[in-house]
This record gives sequence, structure tokens and C-alpha cells, in this order.
Amino acid sequence: MTEPVRCLIRGSINVDEYFQVKSIARPGETISSHGLEKKTGGKGANQAVAIAKAGGTVDIVGAVGEDGIWTKEYLKQWGVNVSDVEIVEQPTGRALIQVAQDGENSIVLFKGANYAILPKKPFHPRTTHLLLQNEIPLSETLAYINAAAEAPNGPISTTFNPSPMPSDEELKVFPWDKLDWLIVNEGEASDMYKVLAGDEPATNIDVSGSPYAHLSAYPVALKLSSQIPKTNIVCTLGAAGVLALIPSLKEEKDKAIEPIFLPAAKLENGAVDTTGAGDCFAGFLVAGLMKLREQGVEKLTREHVTSVLKRCVQAAGMCVEKPGANESIPLGKDVDARLG
Ligand code: ADP
Ligand code: NA
Repeated sequence: MTEPVRCLIRGSINVDEYFQVKSIARPGETISSHGLEKKTGGKGANQAVAIAKAGGTVDIVGAVGEDGIWTKEYLKQWGVNVSDVEIVEQPTGRALIQVAQDGENSIVLFKGANYAILPKKPFHPRTTHLLLQNEIPLSETLAYINAAAEAPNGPISTTFNPSPMPSDEELKVFPWDKLDWLIVNEGEASDMYKVLAGDEPATNIDVSGSPYAHLSAYPVALKLSSQIPKTNIVCTLGAAGVLALIPSLKEEKDKAIEPIFLPAAKLENGAVDTTGAGDCFAGFLVAGLMKLREQGVEKLTREHVTSVLKRCVQAAGMCVEKPGANESIPLGKDVDARLG
């Protein structure tokens, strides 16, 4: 049996500290917390856990301080390879989260070790995929995108989830032509288009008569796609599901791209906590692409992409059914059971 294909994540690892409070502290106020929970978080770590739970092999490159060594153990328990997570002299990145009784929260983020510049790790010979977010210096992200484009064993498929959104200047100089997949929500897609085109989206595009005309994200995604025509765009729509524009499926040059739309999963007990749903989606997407690569698929069809997205939507829906971030990401086998 051949070794499985691997995904490399160069990304963030945080210690998320949840303080349970009666109500969120007002300016000048000192309050007591009646509970404190510490959990592993950060988009890099969450998406790594999602790939591992989905059944993929994943390596994370990142950094924590002495105070966050335990997060490596947590990730390892889920099967994430953490041997390239460095221990640096800065404190671990942190999210200080006040959770009020009514469910409202307020968050303070500290970048800490996530902003350390690290020695570049060579790709494993079996690395076929690269997944990036935007909670580390953009220079690190760009270094890995460039390395992936020039990898000795053939180009590595690159996926970027630009969250939090890069600055306007960063968006304008980003090497979009080296990016295979972009994962954004509707707001992010709209913000990106405005910056890249210097224009308001959806103002001068007529989608009436299209079966997707009811989706406000449709003209936005079309416009964004016109700016980055080589990149597959997966636009998550919260409770409305997902809309994907996949130029690599296009058969005829001048024909418009036929989108793929999937409604959100049916939830068993309604939405409990949407935290982590986006990260769950991203991890299951890349895990699905990895599985196809492992099966020897070279050219993706509409059926391939649709079946990968179906699993993503089901997994993200299950994540929303439970409280918590990465701990609510479901296992691939449980997602498959629900899909039937
Ligand atoms: P982000 O949190 O990154 O903004 P979204 O809110 O679009 O991302 O959520 C990501 C995915 O999670 C959606 O595409 C959808 O599949 C799922 N999801 C989010 N909210 C709900 C919900 N209320 N009901 C069902 N699925 C949801
Ligand atoms: Na959740």
C-alpha cells in the first residue's frame, strides 16, 4: 500500500480562554468570572483538526510558546502531525473570550507566537495540498504559496481562506494566479471584489432568469471570479449553504461558469453554535480533494466537486449542532452516516 497523500497547513495555533461571566465587562468595570476553560484554537489548528477528523493526513507548521506546549498534545491526539510546530520565546497566541449568560461574547485576540517568522520547512514528498488562513504574517503565507507552485514533485494544490481579510494593499498584490481554491463567506467575497476591481459588486450584472438569481451571493461571486478567473471560488452562505464557481470545470472558453449550489444541511435540533463551522468546512473541503487525488483522479468533474461539497455542508451543519469550535467538528464516519 502506498503512503497517504498529505496536506500542509502553515497556520495559527491559539490558546482560547473562555471566561464565563454574568454580563460582559463595561469600560472601567471589574468583574469576576465564575468559570474558566482553556482550549486549543486558532484557524490553523481548527482546520488541521477538521482534516484529521475527515480522515486526511495533515502536517501543521506553526509556533507556540512554553505556555502552549499542551496544545501540541491536543492536536496530536486528533492525529495532526505537530513535529514542525516550533516552541518559541514569545507567548502562545491567545483569544480571551468573555461568554455572558445570555450567550453574547466579546473577544480579545493576541497574535503572540503566531507572528514568529519560522524557518521554511520543505514539503514532505507525499504533500499534495497546502491550506492557509490569515492569522500569521502574510509573508509566511506567500512563501509557502510560492514554494508550492515550484514543488519538485509537481505543483501542490493550494487553498486559501483569507480570514481575517488581508489589507487592501495586500489583496491587490496577492498572487491569485497561484491559488487553486479560495474559501470565502459572502461578506468576504464582496469586500474582496470591491478592492480588486475598485467597484461596487452586483451593481451592473444582470442575473435575472438564472436559477441562482435568489442568491445575493451569486452576482458577487461572479464578479469576484472575473477578477481571479483561474481560482475555484467556494463561497459559504451560512444558513443558506454554499455556492461554488469552479472555472477548472469549464469546458468551453467563452461559456459562463455554471455554479454549484447546495443548501445547508438539515439540523437535528437547530443551530446551537456556529463557531468553527467555517473551519470545519475548509478542512473537509481539502480532505475531500485529497481523497480524490489518492484515488488517482486527475481532472475534477462536476460530480466530484458536488460530492465533496455535500460532505462539507453536512459536516459544517453537524458542527453547528454542537457548542464549541474544533471539538464540535464531526468525524468523517459520522458525517457519512448522516449522508446515508
Ligand atoms: P463563516 O463562519 O466562515 O462566516 P459560514 O457562516 O458561511 O462561514 O458557515 C460555513 C458553513 O457552515 C456554511 O456553508 C454552512 O454549510 C454551515 N452553516 C453555517 N451556519 C449554519 C446554520 N445556521 N445551519 C446550517 N448550516 C450552517
Ligand atoms: Na460549534
